[in-house]
Amino acid sequence: MTTFETIRTRLAAIDQAHLLNFYSTLDADAQAALLAQIDSLPLGDIPALIEGYVKHKPAFVLPKGVAPAPYYPHAPASKLRPWDKAAAHLHGEKLIRAGQVAAFVVAGGQGSRLGYEGPKGCYPAGAVTGKPLFELFAENILGVHDRYNVWTPWYIMTSPLNHEATKSFFESHNFFGLPNDLVRFFPQGVMPSLDIKTGKVLLSSKSEVATNPDGHGGCIRALHHSGALAEMQSRGIKHLSYFQVDNPTVRVIDPVFIGLHAGAADSSAEMSSKMVPKVAPEEKVGVFCHAGGKTQVLEYSDLPMDLQRERTPDGAIKFIAGSIAIHVLGVEFVHRLATDKAFSLPYHRAEKKIPCVDPASGSPITPTENNGVKLEKFVFDALELCKASIVLETDRVEEFAPIKNASGSDSPESSRKLQTLRAARWLEACGTQVPRDAQGQPDCTLEISPRTATSPEELRHAKLPKSIERGSKVAL
Ligand code: UTP
Repeated sequence: MTTFETIRTRLAAIDQAHLLNFYSTLDADAQAALLAQIDSLPLGDIPALIEGYVKHKPAFVLPKGVAPAPYYPHAPASKLRPWDKAAAHLHGEKLIRAGQVAAFVVAGGQGSRLGYEGPKGCYPAGAVTGKPLFELFAENILGVHDRYNVWTPWYIMTSPLNHEATKSFFESHNFFGLPNDLVRFFPQGVMPSLDIKTGKVLLSSKSEVATNPDGHGGCIRALHHSGALAEMQSRGIKHLSYFQVDNPTVRVIDPVFIGLHAGAADSSAEMSSKMVPKVAPEEKVGVFCHAGGKTQVLEYSDLPMDLQRERTPDGAIKFIAGSIAIHVLGVEFVHRLATDKAFSLPYHRAEKKIPCVDPASGSPITPTENNGVKLEKFVFDALELCKASIVLETDRVEEFAPIKNASGSDSPESSRKLQTLRAARWLEACGTQVPRDAQGQPDCTLEISPRTATSPEELRHAKLPKSIERGSKVAL
């Protein structure tokens, strides 16, 4: 049988023959590319996925005995759970200096809510300078080099949809001053996008199947398949500082968090997480929970509202630990999962507007309401596979200013405000006067490069103004 016939037979067996409806109208190159694309998809899994995620929605079962996950409080002297921050800091620094730590950003998402053309990491995020997100992360790594005299490798997960654009952005910006061989890009896998009513795989054009990146959880397999994991092992890297591409205030390399992950008595050094306290029970974030001796993140929509509203005897929100998608992953842990044939993370279903073509006529369709289902894996589902996993509380203003939406919450504007607020705090802690308005908010726009400082302690070493002028924009 020719490749065409083989593929046609396989598609017919899973009721997806429409993917070849326009095959005969394509030129030879496009025909070959379409067959290769279809061949690369997990065709055998599609019927079960349609049944389980499109025709029916997976039922969520609340784990028995679910309780809030314990965490290391932000203030180590807290009565809640005292811990030795200085020791964690020292241990983390030792690992960084020994070259055992790499930065790892997941940058394969489609950023559809922000509606920005191009990879989200190229988005101008600096509150004053408009520096792209990738540049801010690069400056973190340059700062680590300034402080510890060690180059921290940086792994960037892209998707096949933005891989080339991401690489050329770095090339055209001369890698933001980082040695080129420090930065390694690798693409994650994709899943076919499915019609929300029928489950039929969508066509993005007559010659291409509509696909979506397989979620940040796809990083476990992608790290292995791409060879990045083997490279890390040969470089002696043991811990990956994992973060998302949309958070300009993330501490790319945090010695305290790394030290706690690697050294705490109750950590297996497999996968650790940072959390921020939820501001209200209704806040839509995943929550760190504990059940059956395992840490896990329960999505906002899965945790029943009566549990979200429960309070502790002193009035605090009981299920308080909101996930901000900052983790440390052990390289050995990723290797154990990725090389285990039985390993898989569950899929999550997302309903989206997916541009496509009509499978009968080939006419383009620009949907105005959700017409498709995306199937994605989430990295936090790997927490349950750890022997033991710790959670560290952090301060929202200190390291969580995400840019997800074009306006409103988690937008460029809210991020700018948070960047300014944090910089104002740090400057004031160093004795610089910052103008504030009647509500106590900074009356200026501020940005502190992560190369200058990633904490008020580091900022003390910089040359600082005595005061900031009202209404001014200052980048340090
Ligand atoms: P989001 O959940 O915000 O998704 O990703 P997104 O695709 O970027 O944005 P929307 O939902 O279309 O608006 C959180 C982080 O996970 C990465 C993103 O790049 C971001 O850093 N991610 C997401 C991946 O790397 N791959 C994916 O398949 C999905």
